[in-house]
Amino acid sequence: MNRREFLITTCAAALAPQITRASSPVDLIAQPVRAQILPEGNPMTSMLGFNASTPGPTLRARQGDILDIRFLNQIAEGSAVHWHGIRSDNAMDGVPGLTQDVVQPGAQFSYRFGLPDAGTFWYHSHNRSWEQVARGLYGPLIVDEATPPDVDHDLIVLIDDWRLAEDGALVDGFENMHDQAHQGRLGNFAQAMVVPNTPVKRGDRVRLRLINVATDRIFPVGVEGVSGKIVALDGMPLPATQKLQGLVLAPAQRVDIIADVTSAEGVTFLFPTRETPYVLGEIPVSGENTQRALSDIPALPPNKTARPEMENAISLTLTMEGGAMSPRMMALSDIWAFNGQSGLSQTPFHRFERGQTAKIRLVNDTRFAHGIHLHGHHFFEVEPDGEFGALRDTTLVDPGQARDIVCVFDNPGSWLLHCHMLGHQAAGMKTWVEVA
Ligand code: C2O
Ligand code: CU
Repeated sequence: MNRREFLITTCAAALAPQITRASSPVDLIAQPVRAQILPEGNPMTSMLGFNASTPGPTLRARQGDILDIRFLNQIAEGSAVHWHGIRSDNAMDGVPGLTQDVVQPGAQFSYRFGLPDAGTFWYHSHNRSWEQVARGLYGPLIVDEATPPDVDHDLIVLIDDWRLAEDGALVDGFENMHDQAHQGRLGNFAQAMVVPNTPVKRGDRVRLRLINVATDRIFPVGVEGVSGKIVALDGMPLPATQKLQGLVLAPAQRVDIIADVTSAEGVTFLFPTRETPYVLGEIPVSGENTQRALSDIPALPPNKTARPEMENAISLTLTMEGGAMSPRMMALSDIWAFNGQSGLSQTPFHRFERGQTAKIRLVNDTRFAHGIHLHGHHFFEVEPDGEFGALRDTTLVDPGQARDIVCVFDNPGSWLLHCHMLGHQAAGMKTWVEVA
């Protein structure tokens, strides 16, 4: 990307959706909205949102709570809501055609599910998601630990890009084949939206919950003005905190950071480019916190996950195929496939016994990167040395590379497994698994 493609923004988006403690039923209304995506003084953008804003309201609950949500569809086409990363009940997973019927315009659907894991999650439309998510149908879903870590501010940082015309309108062509056969729909304007958008003090300890809500763009992100650690990936705490460097977020991935503010001016989120980095957003810093004593950043308490049983594990391979200039695309009319199959087949990729451990080799036999997401479960990324790495729900596999993941399939139901570059998903890169 070249720097001129992006307008420079000096402050984070001034969007301030309300916080909802979700103990009693909450209405989540999908509807058309107008949003100030471009910097103040520029035209607004017609989009879709929840409860009159995009991003939608922050849904916030405590680990172990039940979330009770009445979804009302007030947009002009069918929709459904998926709770990304939540190891929820299959019937509540929000996937039309697999776990529920599409919610027609004017209709509603009640979602009710438990929250087994504390962490940073998000929700988004899962019907024609490549367009509905691009139009703004998403929001953060935060599950608090029984005892949250001691921080002065808990901030959500949603990173997105939009393809905008000069008059501020979203550019059409959400199913553009050229985009789908390459990296997907990339925007010409990107921004980190900080919720809530409040200033912090130098010396404050902050928790930053980064979420890549873009449909297709991979975001490398630099965070400046803080000194801290990475404490969780995709909602799951790391057993040991990691150095805050080399952040790369594929679409749908999350990174939790706990850090101390060291700058007197601002905490900035940077998108590295070949020249000067592009500023995605900034948290203003004003004043000094002199009360907080220096202390280490502890690891977060782990969520309860099943331990893989490698002795009885089965081995499977999922090969990504297709894309621009691939033999597949030349010969067939579809664009992307897993193991030769483009789009959902009648039979699942695999039927697992409940509790079965599987090692799946994800082979990227294409010229593009793919962020592979499994619904209803988290899995271990296996490091090249065979050690288990982070527990994730979405893993980025670079072109020509392969990655092993290990998953305990312990959540019964039919679960989607797809590329979260939503343009790739639209063009066939999806399958499903069944857990008996
Ligand atoms: Cu974030 Cu199938 O979705
Ligand atoms: Cu992909």
